[in-house]
Amino acid sequence: MKSQFTILLFVFLASAITLVSAQQNVTALFPEAEADNNICKGKTPTNGLQNRNGSCSDTVQGEIPDVDHMVSSLIVEPANGCNLPAFTNFTVKISTIGIVSGFFDDPTSQYYTFPQVVDKETGNIFGHSHVTIQQLNSTTLAPNPKLFAFFKGLNAPEEDGLFSQVVGSAANNGLPPGEYRICSMVASFAHQPTIMPVAQRGSQDDCIRITISDAKKKRKVSNKKRKA
Ligand SMILES: *[C@@H]1O[C@H](CO)[C@@H](O)[C@H](O)[C@H]1NC(C)=O
Ligand SMILES: *[C@@H]1O[C@H](CO)[C@@H](O)[C@H](O)[C@H]1NC(C)=O
Ligand SMILES: *[C@@H]1O[C@H](CO)[C@@H](O)[C@H](O)[C@H]1NC(C)=O
Ligand SMILES: *[C@@H]1O[C@H](CO)[C@@H](O)[C@H](O)[C@H]1NC(C)=O
Repeated sequence: MKSQFTILLFVFLASAITLVSAQQNVTALFPEAEADNNICKGKTPTNGLQNRNGSCSDTVQGEIPDVDHMVSSLIVEPANGCNLPAFTNFTVKISTIGIVSGFFDDPTSQYYTFPQVVDKETGNIFGHSHVTIQQLNSTTLAPNPKLFAFFKGLNAPEEDGLFSQVVGSAANNGLPPGEYRICSMVASFAHQPTIMPVAQRGSQDDCIRITISDAKKKRKVSNKKRKA
């Protein structure tokens, strides 16, 4: 009984400490951010271009949906962990709920230029999604986000509740052999990440990992096996 109480007390204290230490004093840390967008004074404003040097945006966050209209995604194709042949086109299909898809402004001139907008009729955010694929060269260090093997905006509306995108280019069918991570990356109308009403929730996005194998090598191995 006594030890159970001690454990309970310990758990309570630990969670209280976590809460306190996780909460930072914004006024003390970032006084210019706290003082209502003074943070952008004297800095390069975000002006609709994608400024690779960084910039400062004073666009407000905008309309936030209620908890029954939060965004959620699932990559339904290809299957997580599957093995696909190299240099062969394949299709990524993503189920996304909580979004009115097909809405994106011009990313070369209107990037982050207006707030998130919620559709009055459905209660869902106007927006779009993306497929981003990176080769995973390490299992212990996060990949460099400037490097990607495939990227495509899913600007067209979902069909039967799914975004669909062929992975391939005019130069290359599919992808070269390797380990890859495929992620969805959902966005509002003006390309900002979707803003949700509560912090504790499921993820807006999904990622899977797949292996792309050299089809010819595989065939050689199985031929060898057959001979042996
Ligand atoms: C946060 O920091 C500001 C400025 O240093 C101070 O005035 C304020 O009392 C602090 N707030 C809390 C909750 O500690
Ligand atoms: C980014 O910085 C480089 C180097 O200072 C400069 O040449 C370039 O014009 C800047 N780009 C923008 C969009 O401000
Ligand atoms: C992984 O390594 C390959 C081959 O060197 C390279 O082309 C690719 O950009 C790297 N990807 C990442 C995310 O580091
Ligand atoms: C693979 O997809 C790319 C991009 O859509 C396309 O250009 C190419 O013709 C496709 N290849 C085949 C074999 O269908």
